[in-house]
Amino acid sequence: MNDPAAFETEAVARLRAEIPGKAIVAASGGIDSTTAALLVEKALGDRARAVFVDNGLLRAGEVERVGSYFRSSGLHFEVVPAADRFFSALEGVTEPEEKRRRVGEAFIRVFEAEADRFGTDRLVQGTIAPDWIESGGSLRDTIKTHHNVGGVPKNSRLVLVEPLRDLYKDEVRTLARHLGIPAADRQPFPGPGLAVRVNGPVTPDRVRRARVAGAIVEEEVERAVAAGTVPRPWQYFAVLLPARTVGVTGDNRVYGEAVSVRIVESVDAMTATSMAVPHSVLKTIAERITRDLSGEVVRVLYDVTDKPPATIEWE
Ligand code: XMP
Repeated sequence: MNDPAAFETEAVARLRAEIPGKAIVAASGGIDSTTAALLVEKALGDRARAVFVDNGLLRAGEVERVGSYFRSSGLHFEVVPAADRFFSALEGVTEPEEKRRRVGEAFIRVFEAEADRFGTDRLVQGTIAPDWIESGGSLRDTIKTHHNVGGVPKNSRLVLVEPLRDLYKDEVRTLARHLGIPAADRQPFPGPGLAVRVNGPVTPDRVRRARVAGAIVEEEVERAVAAGTVPRPWQYFAVLLPARTVGVTGDNRVYGEAVSVRIVESVDAMTATSMAVPHSVLKTIAERITRDLSGEVVRVLYDVTDKPPATIEWE
């Protein structure tokens, strides 16, 4: 895609042809799905409804942030609270692909119910090229099933519409900037959310720890970027590990968990490099995480692995 204006015109025309009636849009607040939602809004107006699912696996402040952005952008949208459904679907599951499958299926069930209420069978998703390439959609092996690709059950009656499926992330960002989406440089966040950032079992408590730690990583990295200490990374987040490890607070022994901090540079997420962040930034992150999660997280590690051999997310 060289010309975002031409892409927009073509995509809007294609959406009008593909969707004769109404459609709902799976809108996570991320750049991909927000871009898709704005294209659909332009194509269909009030025949479109963006559906934002609060699945209990989101980053700190996300529901408020996305809600207020959607309101200000004039999108037709609704927020569906569904944390309980997702936590029950994930109960006892530790295998990453199974987590993705369960999250994907729970999303689809929520979207089916919302599509019924809105009177449509069309579901627009912001799937982009690496999602289906890494999900085994081309000649490559499945690296990981992105929830919005692998999670659509065969028996779903929803008809998928994917206006961005041939674009790479940098192209979506260009298009998003053209459409006036703020924070088009915001870091990507995986569809299965914090479920794939708590390594091991997914419980509300463990997700809360990953959320608190992740918010600290974001704040400290953004502070360092603003101060010119580091360039803006591609992604920066925390992963809660299932390791149990000993720490000490005051005179007390604590047997807690560990957090791994992941800060990577990348162009298109197909490869990535662990960023050489100054030790002082990492130390501040470690001090804040172990203080705010005192008694729960006692150790903070920095992940120096590139992609490949690791992937960006831990799961
Ligand atoms: P990996 O971990 O495969 O991630 O190196 C590549 C990029 O994709 C994001 N990611 C996802 N995005 N649904 C998404 O929409 C997913 O299931 C998913 N899994 C990983 C990841 O954050 C990185 O930017």
